[in-house]
Amino acid sequence: MQLRNRIALAPMAGLTDVPFRTLAWRFGVGHMVSEMVASKLDLWHTQKSQLRREALPCAAPTAVQMAGNEPAVMAETARRLVDEGAELIDINFGCPAKKVCRRAAGSALLGDLDRVAAIVETVATAVAVPVTIKTRTGLVVDDRIGAAAVRAAEQAGARMVVMHGRSRACKFAGAVRFAAVAEASRDLSIPVLANGDIDDAQSAVQALEQSGADGIMIGRGAIGQPWIFQELAGAGTPTLAQRLHIMCEHLDHMHRFYGLQQGVRIARKHIQAYLQRLDAAALVPEFMRLDTAFAQVAWLSALTEATILEQQQRVKAKPPLAVNSLSC
Ligand SMILES: Cc1cc2nc3c(=O)[nH]c(=O)nc-3n(C[C@H](O)[C@H](O)[C@H](O)COP(=O)(O)O)c2cc1C
Repeated sequence: MQLRNRIALAPMAGLTDVPFRTLAWRFGVGHMVSEMVASKLDLWHTQKSQLRREALPCAAPTAVQMAGNEPAVMAETARRLVDEGAELIDINFGCPAKKVCRRAAGSALLGDLDRVAAIVETVATAVAVPVTIKTRTGLVVDDRIGAAAVRAAEQAGARMVVMHGRSRACKFAGAVRFAAVAEASRDLSIPVLANGDIDDAQSAVQALEQSGADGIMIGRGAIGQPWIFQELAGAGTPTLAQRLHIMCEHLDHMHRFYGLQQGVRIARKHIQAYLQRLDAAALVPEFMRLDTAFAQVAWLSALTEATILEQQQRVKAKPPLAVNSLSC
């Protein structure tokens, strides 16, 4: 399977939904995975699970991430996902969240490599699409379990690995260790994407150099700036006016996708991130107080118009350049 390029968007539950992935794809991301869905089929018909499984009509491959710990149950879920249109199945062996690990899934499975191998093998045998995994460097710093896990996963049939350069115990704290990603991927023949704290061209280059990985995956660094994929490809940053229009469009898509009530809550996370990146964090509390979709749209439209007007006036106010004749 050919991915569009080697810069991927990380799955982030509650953030990298259809509206966000629509923008990321437009700005040139090479690969995207759905937010994690539980493998238990009794949750299949909940609205949350359905929205998470929804595919983008324009993007390919449609990749769905699942978490779980029972190989047979996961294989059955993977078959269903493929029947629904999934073209790639990603398995989460990296999530440190208590909710996931209590059920011995996500990064907790790094403590049971036989099960990691059994899950990958059973799922890869059950479906005819590529199976990939996302994991961490280990359970604790320096234990090298991540390296053993990716080797086991490759032997069991995994076709690509994403490694977050932190251990499970580190959660999101401390420096990312891309050297550990390099060490883990040294003996692999499948592609590896390095992940962790990449949010601009400099950190992207550093991650690629230090990990020796085939590509990178960006999570939080894309929130509030989905155009990062365009920037990394050297196509520049949208103007301030364009960025504000993108925010308005994103807001509208969130309201349509989730409905007005839930849309208002989800929008707060994203608009807050955009404002912070625009050095307008002082405006965040004002936006957070808005409690209807209509109020959010009106507020953001007013901000956009005022900002663009101010910019135009600033340009007009500049004294014209003296273009006098010149004798020589
Ligand atoms: C809010 C949030 C939700 C996440 N949800 C998932 C998830 O559903 N599946 C997964 O594999 N990783 C998940 N992650 C981990 C990210 O995919 C990524 O590995 C991590 O954030 C490190 O990359 P970053 O520094 O680029 O954000 C989540 C992270 C965050 C912050």
